Amino acid sequence: MGKIITIANQKGGVGKTTTAINLAASLAILEKKVLLIDSDPQANASSGVGILEGEAEATIYDCLINGMDPMDAIYETDTPNLHIIPASIDLVGAELELVGRENREFFMHKVVHPLRGYYDYIFIDCLPSLGMLTLNALTAADSVLVPVQCEFFALEGLAKLQETIRRVQDHINQRLSLEGIVLTMYDPRLRLANVVVKEVKEIFGEKVFETIIHRNSRIGEAPNMHMPVVLLNAGSKGAINYLNLAQEFLERNAAVEGQGAIAPSMD
Ligand SMILES: Nc1ncnc2c1ncn2[C@@H]1O[C@H](COP(=O)(O)OP(=O)(O)OP(=O)(O)O)[C@@H](O)[C@H]1O
Ligand SMILES: [Mg+2]
Repeated sequence: MGKIITIANQKGGVGKTTTAINLAASLAILEKKVLLIDSDPQANASSGVGILEGEAEATIYDCLINGMDPMDAIYETDTPNLHIIPASIDLVGAELELVGRENREFFMHKVVHPLRGYYDYIFIDCLPSLGMLTLNALTAADSVLVPVQCEFFALEGLAKLQETIRRVQDHINQRLSLEGIVLTMYDPRLRLANVVVKEVKEIFGEKVFETIIHRNSRIGEAPNMHMPVVLLNAGSKGAINYLNLAQEFLERNAAVEGQGAIAPSMD
């Protein structure tokens, strides 16, 4: 059964989509079967793997709101083993449309759970908000992965995110665990970046991935080429960071499975 991982942080521009695309693509390169679900109306994950706005006939909106069979909304990408359910701008409306529905937190769960048998890992890329779409993604997930940018105000909002995760754990989805914190856009020359790394490690301890994603121009350029950096520039520092992150992710997951234990919770 595939593991469902939601990538969330309500702070904008911290590297959620970049991490979703490149961790998913790296795992695919390592021969895992991976599905990426774009749950952000900005549709950056979709365009980042080659599906441009307006190109996809079926999107996550159709699955969530119109009850479309998710199998009909899955697209192949240029990365072997990596599939995507794309988003489009009409997903903006889903936030409001879901609010009025019964069991409104469970729509993503209904979409994603029938797909578990087909994939090793399913990633859901969230928009920068803690609204209905993110709540749906947390309700559907086994774990949540939180990218944190090594910048000013990096910790801003993390307490609120933790509170939301706890609320979901307490009331809707007890199996939700913290997959980990990924530090992104690290520049070792900046004192502040090193302060952020230290602070985040003090707060989250072993939950922080040892692999840190450095700021790298190749990562910044890849979205324009509509390809994951791990495919476009496999030798670049950014690509190597994400491939290492994927290795560490697999090792951590193997260790948890090996213990036969339930993944530790946030606390
Ligand atoms: N390690 C990196 N090095 C250089 N540029 C990066 C890196 N990570 C992300 N970026 C760039 O920073 C910007 C924000 O990244 P990204 O879109 O992944 O963040 P996000 O959290 O998904 O944003 P949003 O909250 O809007 O969804 C993008 O232009 C991306 O290309
Ligand atoms: Mg994004």
